[in-house]
Amino acid sequence: YINFCTPRERKYILEVLVNGLKRLEYRGYDSAGMVLQIDGGNSTNTDNKGPPIAVIKQRGKVSALEEKINSKKLDFEFKFSTHTGIAHTRWATHGVPNCVNSHPQRSDDNNEFVVVHNGILTNYKSFKTFLVSCHNYEFESDTDTEVIAKLIKYLWDNRESETIQFATLVERVIQQLEGAFALVFKSRYFPGQCIATRRGSPLLIGVHSKSKLSTDNIPILYSSCKNVAKVLDAYVMLFKGQFFPLVPNNTYVESPILLPSYVLRFGVKELFRHTFLLVTQNGESEGIEFYFASDASAIIEHTNQVIFLEDDDVAAVVDGALTIHRVKRGKSTESTTRTVTSLQLELQQIMKGNFKSFMQKEIFEQPESVVNTMRGRMQWEEQRVVLGGLMDHIDEIRRCRRIIIIACGTSYHSAIATRQLIEEMTELPCVELASDFLDRETPIFRDDVCFFISQSGETADTLMALHYCKKRGSLTVGITNTVGSSISRITDCGVHINAGPEIGVASTKAYTSQFTALVMFALMMSEDRFSKRKRYLEIVNALKELPEKIKEVLTLDAEIKKLSDSLYKKKSLLVMGRGFNFATCLEGALKIKEITYMHSEGILAGELKHGPLALVDVDMPILMIVSKDNVYTKVQNALQQVVARHGRPIIICENDDEESVKYASHILKVPHTVDCLQGILTVIPLQLLSFHIAQLKGLDVDFPRNLAKSVTVE
Ligand code: F6R
Repeated sequence: YINFCTPRERKYILEVLVNGLKRLEYRGYDSAGMVLQIDGGNSTNTDNKGPPIAVIKQRGKVSALEEKINSKKLDFEFKFSTHTGIAHTRWATHGVPNCVNSHPQRSDDNNEFVVVHNGILTNYKSFKTFLVSCHNYEFESDTDTEVIAKLIKYLWDNRESETIQFATLVERVIQQLEGAFALVFKSRYFPGQCIATRRGSPLLIGVHSKSKLSTDNIPILYSSCKNVAKVLDAYVMLFKGQFFPLVPNNTYVESPILLPSYVLRFGVKELFRHTFLLVTQNGESEGIEFYFASDASAIIEHTNQVIFLEDDDVAAVVDGALTIHRVKRGKSTESTTRTVTSLQLELQQIMKGNFKSFMQKEIFEQPESVVNTMRGRMQWEEQRVVLGGLMDHIDEIRRCRRIIIIACGTSYHSAIATRQLIEEMTELPCVELASDFLDRETPIFRDDVCFFISQSGETADTLMALHYCKKRGSLTVGITNTVGSSISRITDCGVHINAGPEIGVASTKAYTSQFTALVMFALMMSEDRFSKRKRYLEIVNALKELPEKIKEVLTLDAEIKKLSDSLYKKKSLLVMGRGFNFATCLEGALKIKEITYMHSEGILAGELKHGPLALVDVDMPILMIVSKDNVYTKVQNALQQVVARHGRPIIICENDDEESVKYASHILKVPHTVDCLQGILTVIPLQLLSFHIAQLKGLDVDFPRNLAKSVTVE
């Protein structure tokens, strides 16, 4: 969603929205839609309902929507200007992917109210029954979202006052809703206005001023925008983080206030009911553009200044000015504090460059992404690990009874990969739990420390588990890749893995960075233990050499491409290993499944003779991971069992392993590192293998069917 203070050419707005959607496509991509206000804010009403709103929707990827916009004669002309547009890309939860079910959803044929929604409503059925049975509303889609559009119209039609605000209607709607949502509304009755709100699903506001700020270009900050002259309790946070009272309570600002250029980093206490308009030094009014987005990657090319909305915030842009109210459930609104954060995300970080897909680019970024995870934290000379985000709580963590790691999918595998080391270095029981955590109503105690690992920081199952643990009083730690994400904000402390934006749906560099961050945590916990000193130093030294070794593994790419030729027509691939490499088996099999659609299973080699061995014959593709660690002999036994059943496994082993080579149909040699880090080097060939198989099958590597990058629904 974008809003411009001064009207812009509609074509420009369309382009901004389509580009934004493309950057968000990785979160879901079965259909897309868009809303545009036809006549800007000032046109005359043709039917007393306000200027018309155009809704364009299309099944498929964003490019299909773009084609529709470009090819079809739409019932409006590009040349007109407008203030506002909303766009949405959908990943179906209720109702099959088609045009009618895609967003925006509307209140009626006249598009009086339209809404886009991320998330799932859990109580929509009762409202649907109420609106259909008692008020003869007709629903056109199978979505839960349509209820929201109809409900706001119902409240509007039954309003008690003609002067009711758009934001007030939205506040009333969300007080009725249960479940997760990020919503953006538009209405014909409120041209030039756009309202956004969230609960459980992410939403941020990008703030962009057209004027370039530098120290010589001192802007003037008016404390109010045109019609809003009253300032209640505004504070501007200066550079160094102190709060600076702009004007005292309840005063009118008659003259502009001069502030230095860094004022755009303002943190506004009581942003509630305040609006700010940036004015350049010569007094010319410079409209601020506001962008609402579920993810910063959609807007980063326009601004890196963002406000992260909290649950139950209602943000309203009215004629180019922003206000934020906070809705207390069951009560009226209350004021709150929101700050503008500067994001470090660069546009080129989310561009594909010369790579065929984001996934391929992200696989090849791993030598740098693990360095970024360690940067400033591994103090090589002192042989120390300092995870700044955990410093304030490290003593509490050391005193805890259990460490519990909660995560889903690939993030869960990073917990499995490092659990053994965490137990070894902390001597604390370490339990890892996945999405069934809540189903099991796992007992959690005040003296537990619960880790939440999530690339996106928004995964619904992980987030709900976090709320559950917080309620039970445990200390919560977030390991995420997304600054400002829900998990990073709600946890008591944490570590950003700093892998850079991961766009490919299949997680690759986030996995190796999560792995690295958890290893660093194990080291930080044990730095004072004399008995662990030798091991500690061995791992620190191995971390230092890790990026170079990852580069070496990546040189296997051409060989793996060749290998994938012999595999891409097969139906199944078994991946076997044990000990520190078991997580690689699970993660490798997940990569194969999700992007090649081939059946694949990660098998604990110790379990082989308890069942999976029955699958082994001369035709079954098998991949075995062998490292020269404490389970080497046991893995050799498993290898013999496979060979005895005429299996000819592909083997990933260390450079100097002459024994395993004898039994392999194909060998992929990786450098040796310390046992607990070997999993980082053994997983990369599997990432590459899945990529090449998917390419050979002609599949869309970045957008595997039925999957989305952020799973913000249960
Ligand atoms: C697989 C993959 C998923 C995610 C899972 C959790 O390649 O990416 O399995 O790991 O959906 O997502 P995050 O880490 O964002 O919580």
